[in-house]
Amino acid sequence: MDSGLENVVAAETVLSDVDGQNGRLVIRGWPVQLLAASMAYEDAAHLLWQGFFDDLPDAQALGARLGAARVEAFDLVGQIPDGLDIIRFLRTGWSLLEDDESLDSAIRLAAAGPVFTAAAVRRERGQAPIAPDADLSQSADFLKMITGKVPGEAEARALDAYLVTVCDHGLNASTFAARVVASTRAGLVSAAMGGISALKGPLHGGAPGPVLDMLDEIGIPENAESWIDAALSRGERLMGFGHRVYRVRDPRADALKAAVARLPGTSGRISFADHIEKTVLGRLAKKYPNRTLETNVEFSTALLLEALAIPREAFTATFACGRILGWTAHAREQIGEGRLVRPRSVYTGPVPEMA
Ligand code: ACO
Repeated sequence: MDSGLENVVAAETVLSDVDGQNGRLVIRGWPVQLLAASMAYEDAAHLLWQGFFDDLPDAQALGARLGAARVEAFDLVGQIPDGLDIIRFLRTGWSLLEDDESLDSAIRLAAAGPVFTAAAVRRERGQAPIAPDADLSQSADFLKMITGKVPGEAEARALDAYLVTVCDHGLNASTFAARVVASTRAGLVSAAMGGISALKGPLHGGAPGPVLDMLDEIGIPENAESWIDAALSRGERLMGFGHRVYRVRDPRADALKAAVARLPGTSGRISFADHIEKTVLGRLAKKYPNRTLETNVEFSTALLLEALAIPREAFTATFACGRILGWTAHAREQIGEGRLVRPRSVYTGPVPEMA
């Protein structure tokens, strides 16, 4: 019995390989750093969905279909009730989409992610939602639907780098959840519901917002050691550090750090964050000398999304907008296996007396 399933292999996949000992992530043959530096969201969608849908068009046509699907998704925004935080707004919006196992279903999910996330951000601010522009790239449109302005090339590319970096990552908790649901043949939307519900937790995709809270609370470099020591002595986990699989630095952290550094005006924030990162790593090494705890993807994510003026409350939903590509591809891969996922448990409760 292995309650965290660390040593259980539960799927074969052609999608991604997480090498936790050496800090390498390969997504369909591409090292994540190369993917982040060169691919747009539309290309990554094409890469991940290849081989899982017979009717997959080329990346350019796929981009056009994503644009059209964003426009369709916008019609649903008015049906999403008030009072939901951003991740639940996205989950509710996604749940309204038609649920089947088709390419159209995958496209609708991927396209609707930015539409619902941006609408949720604006609703929280008391602003009307901004309609999508099907002619923009998915990343440029995402930023425009939040701010009302068409972003510069550098900003759109930085968001591409983020979404592509997090598009898939082996059998993480949310992807596993998505595959379990898909194995019941419930449909891709249901699989995405499983994925997003698992991602919502602070131990998985909920960390980057609290990373910024930590940087804000520390405030100045001189406060770092005392703040970190106090948090650790209260038994708190420092967000953006540690990983179930990586025993060295998460390769996505550097891919994203490079993307942040390409954005203008970020050098001051980066050097402050570098100082905090170094201090945290030193303190964690001291507290857990036998366990390597390194920086994970969420630390750089926080800096990148902050630089793009995406509010921290929307970070987990933005993560879901990238990871939906992996969830849908894994769902199709699991469906192809043709096997219901159904592990066993060991009963430890009371035993009835037998006559
Ligand atoms: N801060 C402080 N202590 C930590 C941290 C951390 N970030 N991470 C692990 N530890 C401690 C654990 O509490 C544990 O201590 P204990 O033995 O006294 O209980 C010890 O280090 C060993 O923990 P692990 O076995 O390495 O942790 P596990 O594999 O169970 O958890 C996890 C991994 C959930 C990511 C953990 O490191 C964590 O909570 N990190 C902070 C949250 C975070 O950044 N999440 C994003 C992960 S990336 C992603 O999902 C996209």
